[in-house]
Amino acid sequence: MTAGRFDLTGKTALLTGGSRGIGRGIALGLAEHGANVAIVYRSADDQAAQVVSAIQRMGRQAWSWREDLARTDRLGPLTDRVWQACGRIDILVNNAAISYLEAYDAITPEHWRQTLAVNLDAVFFLAQHVARKMVAARIKGRIINVSSTNGLVAEAGLAHYNASKGGLELLTRSLAIELGEYGITVNTIAPGLIDTEIHSGFELDPAFFEYAREHIPLEHRFGTVEECVGAAVFLASPAGSYVTGQHLVVDGGLICEQFPRLRFMKQGS
Ligand SMILES: NC(=O)c1ccc[n+]([C@@H]2O[C@H](COP(=O)([O-])OP(=O)(O)OC[C@H]3O[C@@H](n4cnc5c(N)ncnc54)[C@H](O)[C@@H]3O)[C@@H](O)[C@H]2O)c1
Repeated sequence: MTAGRFDLTGKTALLTGGSRGIGRGIALGLAEHGANVAIVYRSADDQAAQVVSAIQRMGRQAWSWREDLARTDRLGPLTDRVWQACGRIDILVNNAAISYLEAYDAITPEHWRQTLAVNLDAVFFLAQHVARKMVAARIKGRIINVSSTNGLVAEAGLAHYNASKGGLELLTRSLAIELGEYGITVNTIAPGLIDTEIHSGFELDPAFFEYAREHIPLEHRFGTVEECVGAAVFLASPAGSYVTGQHLVVDGGLICEQFPRLRFMKQGS
């Protein structure tokens, strides 16, 4: 396989939640491989401007739009503005998400709705608007949804987040089927525990992090943002052209294990 199989020169990507964390990493990674990148972010003007400058320094075009993705009525006009400014969208990365850690009986209708609005509704409606334009322009595009291992295996305290990511997994497969005839692929990346600011909203005892590391087979460590980038570049690039309706798990082996039975083997047996 040549480096050209990962070349994104001439492609334009629209990526949500691009101001920080995994989204920032993927935005920079797509640009490194040749893509022009438009990012959508919620509030951090400075951080978004830094991502735009970093991409421009690579010699690519970059744009940013401040938008609250929970306002699904605004996603059509947003898509129109992005398409007009960029001329086209070849790659859509639905990365933005929110999460609250709270037991099922503490979840308010407001938190439930916010979580589903950003993590699932916005993904569907943005994909719908962008896919319509890709189809009309005969672009064999790529849609990459950033899901989570929580979309595959549930975790207590995250019922709304789990539901949104589980929904995202089947939404992805549904769109993969419907958009297949137009040459558009639709996949998810399912990260495990990645070192980003999303965890700073959780009031957790440091003991959790020790416990989590112990259960991550690969070197007992969280993943880095950079370690999520390759999956996105692969799915966006010619190398991923026949992959659709799949999830690519980037979790250091976290969800491989059922029970650590071996640890409980009687000594001497
Ligand atoms: N970090 C992890 O351990 C981890 C694990 C599994 C999945 N993920 C997923 O990876 C993706 C990125 O997570 P992260 O860790 O980089 O999170 P993060 O909190 O660092 O970044 C989230 C991004 O989403 C944007 N965003 C959130 N709500 C928005 C809204 N209403 N409108 C517009 N933008 C909005 C934020 O501005 C930010 O840029 C998410 O989909 C998350 O669920 C992360």
